[in-house]
Amino acid sequence: MMNVQDIIVKKRDGHEMSRAEIEFMVNGISDGSIPDYQISAWAMAVYFQGMNERETRELALAMAYSGEVMDLSPIAGTKVDKHSSGGVGDKTTMVVLPLVAAAGVPVAKMSGRGLGHTGGTIDKFESIPGFIVEKDYQDFIEQVQKINVAIVSQSGKLVPADKRLYAIRDVTATVESIPLIASSIMSKKIASGAQGIVLDVKVGSGAFMKEAGEARRLARAMVEIGKGAGRNVVALLTDMTQVLGLTAGNALEVREAIDTLKGKGPEDLQELSVILAAHMLVLGKKFSQLADAEEKIREIIASGKGLGKFAEIIEAQGGKLDYGSENYGLPQAALKEELKSERADYIASLDALEVGRAAMLLGAGRERIGDKIDYAVGIELRKKRGDFVHRGDILAVIHANDHNRLDMVQKRLISAYHFCSEPVAESPLIIDTIK
Ligand code: URA
Repeated sequence: MMNVQDIIVKKRDGHEMSRAEIEFMVNGISDGSIPDYQISAWAMAVYFQGMNERETRELALAMAYSGEVMDLSPIAGTKVDKHSSGGVGDKTTMVVLPLVAAAGVPVAKMSGRGLGHTGGTIDKFESIPGFIVEKDYQDFIEQVQKINVAIVSQSGKLVPADKRLYAIRDVTATVESIPLIASSIMSKKIASGAQGIVLDVKVGSGAFMKEAGEARRLARAMVEIGKGAGRNVVALLTDMTQVLGLTAGNALEVREAIDTLKGKGPEDLQELSVILAAHMLVLGKKFSQLADAEEKIREIIASGKGLGKFAEIIEAQGGKLDYGSENYGLPQAALKEELKSERADYIASLDALEVGRAAMLLGAGRERIGDKIDYAVGIELRKKRGDFVHRGDILAVIHANDHNRLDMVQKRLISAYHFCSEPVAESPLIIDTIK
């Protein structure tokens, strides 16, 4: 008879867990038979002792099959998915989904909500008036069959083991463990059913992984898990030292995603979206060469087909937008306050974490699961790393619905900017690609 206490001792002392022991743990997490305190002790043992490649893969697989798994077989073609490890202002999913679908590769996407300073794609889509993020299986599949793409909130029936384990990790200082993060993310991707998965692993102050070495180890662990589950996986390591694009805040990000689909978005967002979408076309077997896939994606943006597909998604899911108006009919904040530079210098850095926290203070994010968010509020940046600013230039515009919060954020946001007197060297947006 297996015993939880023996498994905790084994991991605590740095030994490998067998597949049977991993499955016993995961079953006990899912069915509630193992109490929180033993799960916490085990997670802490994993945090300190780590797991090897085999253990990590077996943990991810056991978690992936701990609940329902999506059957995407009624959809023809090679289904692809993408995942971002979480950042500030990362609205690439809203841009990439229509581009990939317009190129003929199906995307049946499940996404999460934001927590803490990082945003969630589902919240962003929900800032569109009328947009529905809950669909039953049949409707979800039918929408993908009809328009090649759908996006829904991740079903609570998928990966119950992760739901419980993540909630425990969150309050026991055991989130920051590569085997636990890798198995948490990949179990959900495997259970979501796609054959090809592009992972965008963020690196920098606004991300889970603050430095490239750590991010690379996480990316490798996830790619190995995916391969072990028979999926094709590519991981990109991308910069999250500053905000991606120029906005952080739900409706503001939708506006920026639409601008990008029109080919008028900020360069970094445009570039990352094109690369991610191109990798998805290669994994979706439309192209064998990445450069050809990139060309196709740029063509889809230029022809307006990407924006057209975006409008199809919005319509299919009940959303209402006015593409002719400047704000597209999205919710708008009552107060718009400019933040001006007090210096004449170069911007040495713009701390993504600080901007993310500022947006959260305004009400754009949630502190706890279930908190209500304000879709209209957020930060619109006018200057980023490397820009030269004169005294009095506008650094950012704060969109707020509350005077007190606005005051707090003004002070906070200015501290996100760091200045220097010399021009700033460019740093790469895409740091590495791991297959
Ligand atoms: N995102 C997840 O889904 N799980 C983790 O453990 C960390 C980030």
